[in-house]
Amino acid sequence: MSEVQGAASAADAETLEAGSGQNYTRNHPYSSTVVLNYLMTGSDSEKETRHLAFSLEQGMMYTPGDAIGVLPENRAESVAEVLEALGFTGDERVLDHYKVEISFEEALRNRLSIGKLARGSVGLYAKLPEAKNCGGKGFDALNALCGPANKTLADEYCWGREFIDLLHDFPGVVKEPQQLFHVLQRLVPRLYSISSSQMVHPDTAETTVRVIRYESHGRERQGVASGQLGERAEVGTKLPVFLHSNQNFRLPEDNSLPVIMVGPGTGVAPFRAFLEHREAIGATGHNWLFFGDQRRNSDFLYEDQFLALQHDGILTRLDTAFSRDQAHKIYVQDRMREHSTELYAWLERGAYFYICGDATRMAKSVEEALLDAIAKGKNGTLDEASEYLAAMKKQHRYQRDVY
Ligand SMILES: Cc1cc2nc3c(=O)[nH]c(=O)nc-3n(C[C@H](O)[C@H](O)[C@H](O)COP(=O)(O)OP(=O)(O)OC[C@H]3O[C@@H](n4cnc5c(N)ncnc54)[C@H](O)[C@@H]3O)c2cc1C
Ligand SMILES: NC(=O)c1ccc[n+]([C@@H]2O[C@H](COP(=O)([O-])OP(=O)(O)OC[C@H]3O[C@@H](n4cnc5c(N)ncnc54)[C@H](OP(=O)(O)O)[C@@H]3O)[C@@H](O)[C@H]2O)c1
Repeated sequence: MSEVQGAASAADAETLEAGSGQNYTRNHPYSSTVVLNYLMTGSDSEKETRHLAFSLEQGMMYTPGDAIGVLPENRAESVAEVLEALGFTGDERVLDHYKVEISFEEALRNRLSIGKLARGSVGLYAKLPEAKNCGGKGFDALNALCGPANKTLADEYCWGREFIDLLHDFPGVVKEPQQLFHVLQRLVPRLYSISSSQMVHPDTAETTVRVIRYESHGRERQGVASGQLGERAEVGTKLPVFLHSNQNFRLPEDNSLPVIMVGPGTGVAPFRAFLEHREAIGATGHNWLFFGDQRRNSDFLYEDQFLALQHDGILTRLDTAFSRDQAHKIYVQDRMREHSTELYAWLERGAYFYICGDATRMAKSVEEALLDAIAKGKNGTLDEASEYLAAMKKQHRYQRDVY
């Protein structure tokens, strides 16, 4: 069933789009209440992907393509471990980045990045006055991770490690809590693509969050923000958030134009928002979604909603690529190749083309498949296809939101 509960009318749309004073920022966030938080992936999935909705105050407006920023907190257990390793109680007073006095515990909880270890932090730790006398693996081993010449080694060391690992490997260096403001990066907000249309959900911003969990160097780890959203953000919890506008990821102004959306995994999030929005405003343009994940049974995010949208003719085409349902991998770009003639025909009809999700591998492969489809459709060369894509970019018809 396509989700229309609480849908705003088309007349409301203009009011929504007109926007209103929205003063919340990362430095002045809104204290939002979590109103939905449920697991979307099946019990036999290798992933934990959740659907979360955050309450908004009246006047907080977003547009499909925008993201929401969440200011995370480090886990209480992680804070306690760091305090223990350092030999402090947490009641010590420190000055935060704005020179406001707070407790050291608060600093470790929501000001300092004690999660994944940054190479820069290792270098700064090694420069603290007591570093030369550090215990554990000793100063020579610490120094071997510093400086431009040792970048690769330092990156290897940091991968899968957190600040607590550095404290255990090279103890006895931190003498004053305040020193950590010099060593550690600031704990920064995390962005999540908004997966709802405000036409349908006037009072909430919904998100599609993959909870990061892994085991490394003998410890169970989790992503700071996604772990918090997965484990410590039950319905009713208050969290500091702000809306983050993304002008470079927008539906066409002309609602009669077709759109092609490629969003494997959590990359599908903004496309749920696009589809809800196009349905709510009665857009006449056709919609084509390529979605992929590991297994149909456990990882088909928003399956019911997408199938209902397809049934209702809103989602003109839905092509899925479940990579692990067969012996060989099938990815979204393989589906694009299978349907390249039609894909090119859509582009020729003025379609906007969107990619969201994995920046490192997927986005590149999808662009290659797009270029191949254009070259084949034009019966031309890859250079000609690149020119065609460059023209699409100029017309804002090729947009990516990759991370
Ligand atoms: C514009 C934008 C939109 C986004 N939209 C979404 C979205 O819709 N949904 C979503 O889930 N995320 C989205 N993200 C990603 C999100 O912002 C966070 O980066 C993500 O949730 C991880 O944050 P975290 O605090 O949980 O993890 P962190 O504490 O930041 O840790 C993540 C880091 O852990 C390390 N790591 C992860 N796995 C392993 C492993 N197996 N071994 C060793 N190290 C590992 C990596 O260094 C990784 O970068 C988006 C990002 C951007 C920039
Ligand atoms: N910054 C972060 O820490 C963070 C947090 C959450 C998500 N993310 C990123 O967000 C993106 C989405 O994550 P997700 O777990 O929901 O999905 P994902 O890892 O992108 O996986 C979705 C589907 O894409 C497939 N895939 C793998 N390589 C591909 C390629 N080269 N081309 C096309 N498809 C490919 C996967 O197949 P197989 O797995 O079977 O190969 C799976 O079927 C990823 O970039 C992920 O790393 C980042």
